[in-house]
Amino acid sequence: MAQSRTRREFVKSAAVTGVGLGVAPGLARAATLRAAASDRVAVAVMGTNGRGAALATVFARQPDAEVAFICDVEEQARAKGVKASLEAQDKAPKGIVDFRTALDDPAVDALVIAAPDHWHAPAAILALQAGKHVYLEKPAFHNPREGELLVEMARGRGRTVQVGTQRRSYPRTIEAMQRLREGVIGRAYFAKGWYANHRGPIGRGKVVEVPSNLDFDLWQGPAPRRPYKDNLVHYNWHWFWHWGTAETCNNGTHMIDLMRWGLGVDHPTRVTSSGGRYHYDDDWEPPDSQVLGFDFEGRKSLYWEGHSCSGGLVEGAGSGVVFYGENGSLKIAGPGYVIYDRENGVVEEVAGDVEERPLDTSGPGEALDTFHVRNFLECVRSGETPNADAAVHQPSTLMPLLGNIAHRLQRDLRCDPRTGRVLDDPEADALWGREYEPGWEPKA
Ligand SMILES: NC(=O)c1ccc[n+]([C@@H]2O[C@H](COP(=O)([O-])OP(=O)(O)OC[C@H]3O[C@@H](n4cnc5c(N)ncnc54)[C@H](O)[C@@H]3O)[C@@H](O)[C@H]2O)c1
Repeated sequence: MAQSRTRREFVKSAAVTGVGLGVAPGLARAATLRAAASDRVAVAVMGTNGRGAALATVFARQPDAEVAFICDVEEQARAKGVKASLEAQDKAPKGIVDFRTALDDPAVDALVIAAPDHWHAPAAILALQAGKHVYLEKPAFHNPREGELLVEMARGRGRTVQVGTQRRSYPRTIEAMQRLREGVIGRAYFAKGWYANHRGPIGRGKVVEVPSNLDFDLWQGPAPRRPYKDNLVHYNWHWFWHWGTAETCNNGTHMIDLMRWGLGVDHPTRVTSSGGRYHYDDDWEPPDSQVLGFDFEGRKSLYWEGHSCSGGLVEGAGSGVVFYGENGSLKIAGPGYVIYDRENGVVEEVAGDVEERPLDTSGPGEALDTFHVRNFLECVRSGETPNADAAVHQPSTLMPLLGNIAHRLQRDLRCDPRTGRVLDDPEADALWGREYEPGWEPKA
């Protein structure tokens, strides 16, 4: 989508070529529907070892989008991203190391961020400053202060920021939430959410020479420099506070987002955490078994339980949520949902129409992702607010981060329900932000 074209011209031509709301999810590339190259939203994807490669395929499949750049600091991951794009588009994207080169290119419309968590908000802020739209993987930020900066930065810029909580765009979930609001189980006042996996140990890392195929300096980016260890890249960074944000923000964010949405709550008044790293004895810093609890004004609470290593399905599923209300409960554990009365009789079972893979580390599946990517592309064109806009999303990353702070301080937190800020706790305030590598501090 050439920058010189006005949005009105683009919307008009997109309508002529038939792209937009009517495109079915998971649609294979259809030459007849494909928009002219100049009308496609050109994206650069940052971080393509796992999630980014899956997103590159989804974006490349959209008739009105094109993957123009694959940006990764590690050679094999870069090759994966290029290959994933070529599964769905003819033209090979340019593979580059430094995503800032793509931000400098006026032909690029959007940055898709699937790098590690310490990069999320800083990269999104750089992209917004360069005038790009942003598809930002969850968690939207690595620490609460970055969340405030991100929302401030995104506000009033005329740029779309969609956070990667893809269930926000899935019609069955939207319908379930609507029915909760309409009182299908009476007043919904309590919810539980969960995630269970059987992750292995990460061992004890040794400081070794940085592999020649990795730009570790750019991998670290905003994070203060640490020596390279052999149990960090890829994926295991999730389990170090310096770069990752724990299972709470990795998978907890998705279910906490659903619970917040269904109960109609934003910031809690109280946050509790119990649990620890119990399964293995290794470098993994956060808990692998944990329960986070949140109380809200208006007589409502929710909790999330994480089982990173022990397996152990909850309600027969690897992830899900249950809402409890005056007249019964509503369960979402997979693509559909079930409504029960107070005697646990099934009142209604609504089947899902997509496959969901809760244990797939690259995401829950292309069909579910496609709804969210379509919503993003439509908002880029229309200027409407996307389903998981930065401000709408912010409490869903902040809540599990508050849970992490409660865990690290080993005490309950009291919070201001208007802002989510912790009350009367200087040690918690010290964990509100982070130290940055000099020169890399994000600035709104
Ligand atoms: N929405 C979802 O369902 C979903 C699913 C999986 C992962 N995610 C999120 O996606 C992100 C990535 O997760 P993953 O499992 O793919 O991790 P990963 O470690 O497998 O991949 C991260 C990639 O980012 C690259 N990278 C690091 N620094 C970079 C930089 N400066 N520029 C470009 N590339 C850089 C790494 O080399 C690596 O290839 C995480 O934040 C995760 O929470 C979301």
